[in-house]
Amino acid sequence: MTKRRKLYEGKAKILYQGPQPGTLVQYFKDDATAFNAQKKGNIAGKGVLNNLISEKIFSGLEAIGIPTHFIKRANMREQLIKKVEIIPLEVIIRNVVAGSMAKRLGLEEGMELDRSIIEFSYKDDSLGDPLVAAEHALALGWVTDDELDQITAMTFRINDFMCGLFAGIGIRLVDFKLEFGRYVDENGDEVIILADEISPDTCRLWDLKTMKKLDKDRFRRDLGGVEEAYQEVARRLGVLPKGGLEGE
Ligand code: TMP
Repeated sequence: MTKRRKLYEGKAKILYQGPQPGTLVQYFKDDATAFNAQKKGNIAGKGVLNNLISEKIFSGLEAIGIPTHFIKRANMREQLIKKVEIIPLEVIIRNVVAGSMAKRLGLEEGMELDRSIIEFSYKDDSLGDPLVAAEHALALGWVTDDELDQITAMTFRINDFMCGLFAGIGIRLVDFKLEFGRYVDENGDEVIILADEISPDTCRLWDLKTMKKLDKDRFRRDLGGVEEAYQEVARRLGVLPKGGLEGE
């Protein structure tokens, strides 16, 4: 793509001004961070794979009626998206105990939950994205009651869809993180839509047979085979590019 204005650079993505008003270009980097950027690295080809994996999942979600920011993929590392006002919450769904939940409650990773759990973290790097209750988000005006209801309903539908999608390719969807934004639609109405990305950076994905981790925990925990894990997820989803991962 030609020169355009960089609006924001995050840890894994860059947002550029889009070609039409109300649009942005989302560029996926190979950079990886963990533990609030205390650990930094690079996962070769990650940007390309996350772009393609996220496209696959967002397109599938659009097809079942979940509104998202995704418009179309522009090239191997970029997608055209709708510009939203991001709600400052990381919305986490857990199907199996792992990660911070296991640590916080002293539980074994891998325990199946009787029902899926939704959690919220306040999106603030300087505070390390602290866990908050829905009450905090409401009382502090980060979301309205109606918005929170919509986010919760959408999150459980997304979980159902994604559990099925991954089960179909031999993967257990352990947990994942979503972000939502406010978007003014064609009728001038403000609506809540799914934003950001869904990829092995933002999900825990375990092989159903071997329990092998196929996600960013391989990077966080120095397990090796990081690039291979991302490629394996892309391959099973049918989006691994045949011509290599050197996309500009
Ligand atoms: P956690 O167990 O560390 O709280 O992570 C829960 C899920 O959220 C896991 O699938 C990884 C994802 N996640 C992110 O996408 N971004 C983050 O900054 C963190 C901490 C987790």
